[in-house]
Amino acid sequence: MWKVVSLILPLVMLCAQGASGKEEQEAQHVGHVSVVIVGGTGDLAKKYLWQGFFQLYINEVSSGYTFSFYGGGLSPEAKATPALFEILKGVSCPEDVPVEQCALLKEQFLRLSKYWQLKTTEEYLALAKHIDQELKEEGMKEAGRLFYLSVPAFAYADVADKINSSCRPVSGAWLRVVFEKPFGHDFGSAQTLSTQLRNSLKEEEMYRIDHYLGKQVVSKILPFRKENKKFLDPIWNTHHIERVEIVLKETLDVKGRIPFYDQYGAIRDVLQNHLTEVMTLLTMRVPQNLSGSEVLQNKLQIFSSLYPLGRHQAVIGQYQAYNAEVQKELNKTKDYHSFTPTFAAVIAHIDMAQYDGLPIIVTSGKMLDERVGYARVLFKNDVFCIQNSDNIHCKRKQIVFYFGHGSLQHPAILVTKNLFKPSLIDSDWKEVTQHKDVDILGLPVSDYYIQAPKVERDAYAELISQFFAGRKDSFISTENLLASWGLWTPLLDSLAQSYPRIYPGGVDNGNLLDFHLKGKELKYASEAVVMIMPDKLQGSTTDNYHVMQGKFRSADMVSAWAEELVEQLAVDLQAAAEAALNEGGVFHLALSGGSSPLALFQRLAQHHFSFPWRDTHLWMVDERCVPLTEQESNFHNLHNLLLQRIRIPYYNIHPMPVQLNQRLCVEEDGGALLYEKEITQLVNGSSFHFVILGVGYDGHTASLFPGGKVDGHADSLVVLTESTIKPHQRMSLTLKAINRAHNVALLVMGKGKHEVITQLSRVKDDLNKWPVTGVHPTNGRLVWYIDYDALLG
Ligand code: BG6
Repeated sequence: MWKVVSLILPLVMLCAQGASGKEEQEAQHVGHVSVVIVGGTGDLAKKYLWQGFFQLYINEVSSGYTFSFYGGGLSPEAKATPALFEILKGVSCPEDVPVEQCALLKEQFLRLSKYWQLKTTEEYLALAKHIDQELKEEGMKEAGRLFYLSVPAFAYADVADKINSSCRPVSGAWLRVVFEKPFGHDFGSAQTLSTQLRNSLKEEEMYRIDHYLGKQVVSKILPFRKENKKFLDPIWNTHHIERVEIVLKETLDVKGRIPFYDQYGAIRDVLQNHLTEVMTLLTMRVPQNLSGSEVLQNKLQIFSSLYPLGRHQAVIGQYQAYNAEVQKELNKTKDYHSFTPTFAAVIAHIDMAQYDGLPIIVTSGKMLDERVGYARVLFKNDVFCIQNSDNIHCKRKQIVFYFGHGSLQHPAILVTKNLFKPSLIDSDWKEVTQHKDVDILGLPVSDYYIQAPKVERDAYAELISQFFAGRKDSFISTENLLASWGLWTPLLDSLAQSYPRIYPGGVDNGNLLDFHLKGKELKYASEAVVMIMPDKLQGSTTDNYHVMQGKFRSADMVSAWAEELVEQLAVDLQAAAEAALNEGGVFHLALSGGSSPLALFQRLAQHHFSFPWRDTHLWMVDERCVPLTEQESNFHNLHNLLLQRIRIPYYNIHPMPVQLNQRLCVEEDGGALLYEKEITQLVNGSSFHFVILGVGYDGHTASLFPGGKVDGHADSLVVLTESTIKPHQRMSLTLKAINRAHNVALLVMGKGKHEVITQLSRVKDDLNKWPVTGVHPTNGRLVWYIDYDALLG
C-alpha cells in the first residue's frame, strides 16, 4: 500500500487541469508531508478531521505535495486498524468532483493512510524511522510533519515531549503541532500548560485551534471590514453603534459530556474562546495585511484595552435537569449541587475613545429555544418617523454576521438596506437575492443585502488548509490565550460560588433569562428566581447580605460583607457629593492609599456616568515619597483604577507634590507647604467635603504613624512623616486637616484587620500610640465602614 510516488503520478495527471502558476511557484518548497492524527479513531477525528484531511489531500495533491496519513492511538494496531478504515470509508468529495474522479481519490487516500500505535516513546521513534525509510526508498524530500492532537488536554505535554524527543522531521522541514481546546481552565493553568509545551515546541510550531476562526463568516469579518472600509469607517464607533451582541444559542443539553462540562461551564466552554475571538475581530484595528502577524498584534491591543470583568458584568443560569445529570454522571449523592453555569451573559466595555461606553454583550447557553449563532452590530437610528413606520428608513439599522442555523439556515453577512450596499468580499462569495420569507433578528429578510459563501465549508476543513499553509493568524497564539484568560479568570473566580438561576429549558424559559443593561452592569430583567439551595448552605453567611448599622468607638458604624460595604460607601459618597454640589457647586474629596480603597475605586469607575466627576476635586490624604509613576505611589493606583476611567477635568486633580527639584520629599523644597496652600486656596475653610481613611495594622491612619508625634502637627494641614515600613518617607494630611472635614469615612476591610479592630474597640484615645483615635471631626460626621471579616474575624 505504500508506493507513494507511483500513486501520485496518475493523480497529478487527473488533476492537471487545475494546475496553475501557484503550483509552479511552490514547487521548490513542496515535498512529502506526513500527517499524524493522534487520537485518530476518536470522535472528533471521525466527525471532522479525516474528512478535513481528505479535502486537503484533494486540494493539494495536484500542487506537487505527496502525503502519508497516520491515525495514531493507544490501542494495538490489529484492533484499531478496522475501526480506522471504517471511518475512512465515510469520507466524501465536494459536489463539484465527478464521481469516478472521487472514487479514485478516495482509493488513493485510503491507500496512503495507516494506523500506528502511539503510546510509548519507542513507538514514536518507530514512526519516525518508518517515515525516514519511506522517504529514502521513494527518493522524496521531506516538506514537513503535521501532528493533530485530538486527545484530552492532560496528555498534551506528554505527547509534545515525545514528538520533540523522537519524531521531529529532518532539518529544513517544518513541524506543526495542532491542539484543540481546552487550553487550561484559568490563567494559571493555561500558563503552566504553555510553559510545559514551550519545553518541547517552538511558538511557531504550535497551532491552537479555535474552530470558530474557521467558520466561513467569522473568517470573513476582517475582509468584510476592510472591503467596506469607506462605509464603515465613519460609523464604526460609539457615536453610531448602539451595541454589539455576540450570541450562540443551543437547544441541546450536555448529557454524556458532564465529566468535562461540569469543570468548565458556559463561560470557559464558549465565551472565553469562540465568542471572545469574534469580539476581537469585530473591534480590533483592521490591519493592512490580513494574513500577517499584525492580526495577532491588533487583537492583543483589544485585550489590553478591555475593562476588567467582575460579578456585576455577568448573569448566569443552569438548566433545571442539569444537576440530576451531574449527580448521575459523576456518581454524586442527591444533596450534591453543581454551580456550573450552562447559560451566561456578559457585558464588556473597551477603554478606547472609539468605543467609549459601547456595550458589547456576549452570551451563550444550552437548552435554549433555538440553535443559532451570530454577531450583530446594532446601530443607532436617529430618524423619527411620523407616518409609515414600515419604511426601511424608520427601521433598525444593523449588520449581522450570521454563523449559521436559525431561521436563515446558512452562513451569511447581512446589512440592512438603510445602511449601505456592501461590496462582495471575494469571488468565493455571492450576493443572495432569492430567499425564503423569514425574519432575521426582527426584520424581514428582504430588508437586508445578503452575501453568502458559494459553497458551504466545514470549519475544520478550512483550518486544516490554513495550518497546512502555515498561516498563524487563524490560530490562538500563547500571548492571545493568556490575554483572554487574564480577562476571564477574575470573573470566573468571582462567580465560583454564585448560584446560577435555574431555567426549565427550551421555549418554557419564557423571559426568565432576559437581562437588561444597567450602565456597565448586567442584571436579570425579572426578579423571579427559581433557586435550589443546597442544605449545607441554608442559613449560612452567604445569603445574609444585610448592611448593619451600629456604633464603634462612639461613632456611627456600617458593617456588611465587603462588596455590600463598598456599595454602601459609594452610595453615601454620592449623596454627599450631590449635597455639596447643591450647596456650593463643588465637591472636594480626599482619598487615601493602601489596599482598602481599591475596591471602592473600582466600584466608582464602574458607575462613573452617574457621579458628578466634572465638579469634583480629588485630593490625596497621603502619599509615599516615590515618583507618581511608580507602582508604590498612591496616586499611581488612583490613576490606574479610577482616574483613567472617569471624566474629570485635569485641573480638578491634586496629587501631592512629593517630587520637587528632581528630588523626593526634601523639607527645604516646601512640598507640604505648597499642598497646604493649594488646599487653602481652593477648599472653603480648608474643609474637605469627604475624607476617606484607612487603618493600618499598627493603628496608623493617613500617613500618621504611632510614635510619630502626631499631636505635634498642631498648626499644619500637611506634613512630611516617617513610616517604619518602606518607602519610609511620606507626605500626609494632619489630624487638623482631617478633623475639619464635613464627612470622614474610616474604611476597614479583611480578616487581617480583625486584630487591630478588636484592639481599637477597647483602647482610649491616644494619638501618639493609636493615631486613628485622633480622628474626631470637629463639626463633621465620622462613620466607620467595617466589613464582617474585619469585625468578626
Ligand atoms: C464547542 C463547545 O467548542 O463549540 C460546545 O465545546 C459547543 O459546547 C460548540 O456546542 C459550538 O460549536 P458550533 O460550531 O456548533 O457552533
